[in-house]
Amino acid sequence: MLKKAVLNALNKQMNAEFYSEYLYLSMAAYFQSMSLTGFTHWMKCQAQEEHVHGMKFFNHIGERGGDALVGSMESPPTKWKSPMAAFEHVLKHEQKVTGMINDFVNLSIQEKDHATNQFLQWFVSEQVEEEASASEVLEKLRLVDKTEGGLLMIDTELSARIPVLPLMPPPPGGEKTTG
Ligand code: FEO
Repeated sequence: MLKKAVLNALNKQMNAEFYSEYLYLSMAAYFQSMSLTGFTHWMKCQAQEEHVHGMKFFNHIGERGGDALVGSMESPPTKWKSPMAAFEHVLKHEQKVTGMINDFVNLSIQEKDHATNQFLQWFVSEQVEEEASASEVLEKLRLVDKTEGGLLMIDTELSARIPVLPLMPPPPGGEKTTG
């Protein structure tokens, strides 16, 4: 039986993961508008992973006999000053999520909910990877800043990211939509 405080925290984190999905989908749209197909692909993969994270919480709540409450979603930003600014946002966002997960781990200890504590350990490790992958792209963007062709080189690299599930194919003619 889930304690109320734990159930509330599970629902809060589930909705936060779905917000992350929206945020990265919005970034995918931003990069798509710039015809940066590799960055677009990377963000679509990232959005998809966040959906999987949200569903892990959804399933855990169900398995524990709780009610998953999908709340209203704040609209994410739609524009960034530059690709670097977008990735600075990604890193900052992931650092915030790490803080939320850590607070939740503390709550699970306080509430003596060992099952939730164990469930959260996957997210503790995942956040290390999330921050590392955002930092890696950000560092590369800083390295090539104002270097001719640097952005396109990173774009090509990012197109190689392997999605956790098959992605919807881009429209004929590439990622850029017209009209
Ligand atoms: Fe689900 Fe990017 O943390």
